[in-house]
Amino acid sequence: MLRLGVVGCGEQATNNLLPALKNAPGAQIVGLCDIDAARLDSAVQRFGITAGYRDYRELIKSQSVEALILAGPPQMHAEIADHAVRNNIAVFVEKPPTVTTEQLERLADLAETRKVVTGVGHNLRFARPYLVFCGLASEPEFGRPQSFQIRFLCNKPKEPLWGLDCAVRSFLLAQAIHPIDLTLQWLDSDYDLAVTAHAAADGSILLHCLLQGSKVTGLIVTGSMAPSFIFDVSLISDQSMMIGLDSLWNIAYRGVSNEKVPYLPTPRSWRLTSEPSPLDSGYIRSGYQGELDAFVRAITHGAKGPPTFREELPVYRAIDRIERSVKAQLARGR
Ligand SMILES: NC(=O)c1ccc[n+]([C@@H]2O[C@H](COP(=O)([O-])OP(=O)(O)OC[C@H]3O[C@@H](n4cnc5c(N)ncnc54)[C@H](O)[C@@H]3O)[C@@H](O)[C@H]2O)c1
Repeated sequence: MLRLGVVGCGEQATNNLLPALKNAPGAQIVGLCDIDAARLDSAVQRFGITAGYRDYRELIKSQSVEALILAGPPQMHAEIADHAVRNNIAVFVEKPPTVTTEQLERLADLAETRKVVTGVGHNLRFARPYLVFCGLASEPEFGRPQSFQIRFLCNKPKEPLWGLDCAVRSFLLAQAIHPIDLTLQWLDSDYDLAVTAHAAADGSILLHCLLQGSKVTGLIVTGSMAPSFIFDVSLISDQSMMIGLDSLWNIAYRGVSNEKVPYLPTPRSWRLTSEPSPLDSGYIRSGYQGELDAFVRAITHGAKGPPTFREELPVYRAIDRIERSVKAQLARGR
């Protein structure tokens, strides 16, 4: 069994990662770590893992940890990921792995030199309804994707996070990183970017990002100006086919048929919908189970895992470009 240690026992670890890891085949959580004694004690009790540490170095040494799961602020991710990689310990880091692109580049280089498995938490890539969406799009009858649109709207953060001095970068690292990651999966590495930004008096922002690749155009509508969390995606192909996924729940697959049916017009549009069972919830639907299982398999079987530090770099480069554009617009609007 792969010996896993988890560092950071806050909301994300205790609500999502630890429960999902409990079911991960081929791995065993051997210890937890948090600098906050109350959080550590509460996680130790709740998950029945007796080995709790306030210092991650102690956890690694005492429990002969082979892989680490990190869920804290990005400064913590960068520091502990560096230590892990230098000690040949595989490391999975919640998003955002680092504050800056330069830090991520250094970690990616180091991990490649030392041949250490790395992973970044992009659970939506592994969410079951999104995998169905991608599966439908990969069928030959769907044709070639032309336009990928995503709305990822939240009501936070409106202020800087993690001690950063910039609310825009905080939002991009905390929230927009998800839709940017999904959109880049459909584009070539080269794309033109156009961004429009709106800012409200309460510090919230709303962004429209148009990413124009040579084959597919991506449109991201994201921001902290929404009343609540809204997430949907859609894809249009050159065969007039369309797939929509709403709230990681309802899938609508649309197309045109030339088949002759009495009384009905030809050609006519059709629409197939798929709704999950009310019982289909939890870590498989949200992708936490899938990303952690994939990370374990990447270590134990050399399988394709969640995005590595290297594979995360295009997301950071997009974040840098969007941040520059938003800041320039907001400065002009002042
Ligand atoms: N993928 C997702 O859907 C998703 C959702 C929520 C949060 N996240 C990410 O998960 C991470 C954690 O978020 P959270 O909401 O759990 O935050 P949180 O503040 O609730 O928890 C972070 C924990 O890390 C601990 N910590 C900080 N520095 C430490 C150190 N040096 N050593 C050990 N422990 C340390 C803190 O004491 C705290 O308990 C963030 O990076 C966030 O972006 C991802």
